[in-house]
Amino acid sequence: MSSPIIELKSVGKSFRSADGSARAVLENVDFTLNEGEIVALLGKSGSGKSTMLRIMAGLIGADSGQVLYRGLPIYGPAHGISMVFQSFALFPWLTVQKNVELGLEANGMSPDERIQRAKSAIELIGLSGFEGALPRELSGGMRQRVGIARALVMEPEVLLMDEAFSALDVLTGERLREDILELWEGGLLPTKAMLVVSHNIEEAVMMADRVLVFASDPGRVRDELQIRLPRPREVEGADVRSLIDKVYGLMTAGAMRSGRMADKGVKMGIGDRLPEVGISRMEGTLEILADEPFLGRADLPKLAEKTELSDHELLDIASALTLLGFALLEQGDIMLTPLGLKYAQADNAERKAIFGHQLLENVPLIAYIRHGLVQDPSGDLHEDLFLKLLRFTLSEADTLSALRVAIEWGRYGELFEYDFNTGTLNMPKDEEVTAEQRTRDLA
Ligand SMILES: Nc1ncnc2c1ncn2[C@@H]1O[C@H](COP(=O)(O)OP(=O)(O)O)[C@@H](O)[C@H]1O
Ligand SMILES: [Mg+2]
Repeated sequence: MSSPIIELKSVGKSFRSADGSARAVLENVDFTLNEGEIVALLGKSGSGKSTMLRIMAGLIGADSGQVLYRGLPIYGPAHGISMVFQSFALFPWLTVQKNVELGLEANGMSPDERIQRAKSAIELIGLSGFEGALPRELSGGMRQRVGIARALVMEPEVLLMDEAFSALDVLTGERLREDILELWEGGLLPTKAMLVVSHNIEEAVMMADRVLVFASDPGRVRDELQIRLPRPREVEGADVRSLIDKVYGLMTAGAMRSGRMADKGVKMGIGDRLPEVGISRMEGTLEILADEPFLGRADLPKLAEKTELSDHELLDIASALTLLGFALLEQGDIMLTPLGLKYAQADNAERKAIFGHQLLENVPLIAYIRHGLVQDPSGDLHEDLFLKLLRFTLSEADTLSALRVAIEWGRYGELFEYDFNTGTLNMPKDEEVTAEQRTRDLA
């Protein structure tokens, strides 16, 4: 059996949020990276993937649990573990050669050896001839190759790639991914194990021996899928397509859990995150689904292709539609509910009425704002009130995002209006609050 290189045991990490309270970003993370494997890590943005990688590289410490490299605790930045970031983080005033040499220089290697090692890393990654170029003279794909050369020149046993292909256009990202896999398969890398954070399900399935799905709030490993297909893998092959479906299934199971589980009666709370999805995206997706020949049912990977949305965008839309009762998710498929179909076929006014109704039923934050406005004699409330409340459970970024989403949705559903200049929420102008309605709304 292969031996463990890095082990995380019950790792926890918290950060302070705006009000000074600690927020758990990682909790009980158990993970082992073994010799000879490529592991892909998928999960929502903000779920703590980068934090986990930084802990594995020894760049930051864990608050609890153990982090072992070859059986020994990691204290500081570990030799033998290199990271590649999404933003290329090259020094703009240094040539390709110098950028790659930098880490070796810090290690006190002699100039001759350093120059040779950097040259071979540059050659390995396909940048021969560009040693003297400056980063700004290179395309994005080439810059990321420099970033990878800079990691490889350290001859790391472990390579941690944090969305290393995400900033590149699709074809460039695929090419680079294929080149790295070819080097890996050919035994040309000094590296014995790789962990690849991705937000692209296909990428994860094409590369990895194991795919981990990360859960959010707090982050932890929720699901794991072994992939035993040899590489290179055929992207359109039946095996790959069915694995992609499976991973979609795992991820939508998470979207369901983080939205609402209608069947289990678990409701969302006021201080939960809201999927950051605009009305037009939701409506567009409902309309596409209504046009699907199979009774509003579609395979998520195919839908992603058709709509040209990223996996995360589509999963966010899917979780918004499930939350609002317009769709259901099942084994990597999304399907319209009868209400979702009705919505897709309704005119504008009817859509707004249905939408508003579903918001009050299913989104506690929006219902809470609406109730507040109905109860308040002046009919307007400042957003600070709600921001304060959200900050108890959410990070600053999520707080702002949740209120932004609530405002966009609530305005569309004609439950309230928002004054962008003053930051106040008001009852809709043409809606006179009658005593009768007040009782109905508060019921
Ligand atoms: N240094 C930090 N201080 C405070 N909060 C942080 C810090 N680093 C990350 N976070 C928070 O931790 C959460 C997880 O972040 P991150 O690990 O970058 O997630 P991911 O890589 O999955 O998108 C986010 O809510 C982020 O705002
Ligand atoms: Mg990240």
